[in-house]
Amino acid sequence: MKVFAPASIANLGPGFDSLGVALEGLGDVVQARRTDRPGVALVEMTGEKENIPTDPDKNCAGRAAESVLRQLKGKAAKEAGLEMRLHKGLPQGSGLGSSAASAVGGAVAAHLLFGSALGSNTLLEAALEGEALASGSRHADNLAASLLGGFTIVRSHAPLDVIRLELPSAMRFVVVLPGMEIETRFARSVLPEMISLKDAKSNWANTAALVAAVARGNLPDFGRAVDDQVVEPVRSRLIPGFADVKRAALEAGAFGCSISGAGPALFAVANADTAEKVALGMHAAFQRHGLPSRHFICPPDNRGARRLD
Ligand code: HSE
Repeated sequence: MKVFAPASIANLGPGFDSLGVALEGLGDVVQARRTDRPGVALVEMTGEKENIPTDPDKNCAGRAAESVLRQLKGKAAKEAGLEMRLHKGLPQGSGLGSSAASAVGGAVAAHLLFGSALGSNTLLEAALEGEALASGSRHADNLAASLLGGFTIVRSHAPLDVIRLELPSAMRFVVVLPGMEIETRFARSVLPEMISLKDAKSNWANTAALVAAVARGNLPDFGRAVDDQVVEPVRSRLIPGFADVKRAALEAGAFGCSISGAGPALFAVANADTAEKVALGMHAAFQRHGLPSRHFICPPDNRGARRLD
């Protein structure tokens, strides 16, 4: 059993912990097979695996798979054994939902191997156990996008309530990842407990506008609504050159730009004609601040986590 789970952009500017999109072409691959040894064994990790624990209990994919096995009934619950190989397509601490892709991949692979009887909210709960290991917090924005694909809204975490919409395939997300790492745990610790009503109002309006733009398939409106008065002003200080990189994206024709998830990657909203120019502008701006970067131009992934073989 081979499962692909896409990378994702969470928050999308104003929608902290609520909004997410899945990215085509970037993500993790989990290969799993049933064994006679009860429990989950992580036998191999390849790709961008630096600093990722190999103990299945401490690994996002392993923990999510264990959680799925725990939900099996009767004899199967005690005897189910699974051997897993994880290929990391993304580095940890990038802001591109790396741990979420692993967690979703692990949960989906275990689910498909052992009967596929769980609903998507139960799978998300299992994946949340994996994600919480990496970030110290139970938020499902990256997970929902990676599992379901398209544009996802986590309307509520307890109980989980997720809404999913399709994204226009002409859309391009330009993702630029500077050569540095930000731990999600840390990026969350710098956020304020209290925010002003004025800033909250702006984010509510832009979140609603983003959803309207998706419903209408309007890229310029989508980009305009990527405007975050709450989280970006604080976290942008952790990313050298943020203001210049964002300006470069907009000057090159992007419709909007902000931090991808907890950063340090930035994303810009573009179309197929402008995406390359936007990426090069952002890359050059990071370079002026002494940071190497790599970029990816991704259409939305409207399929979500899926079996590959
Ligand atoms: N919504 C999360 C955050 C995404 O911004 O902290 C990263 O896990």
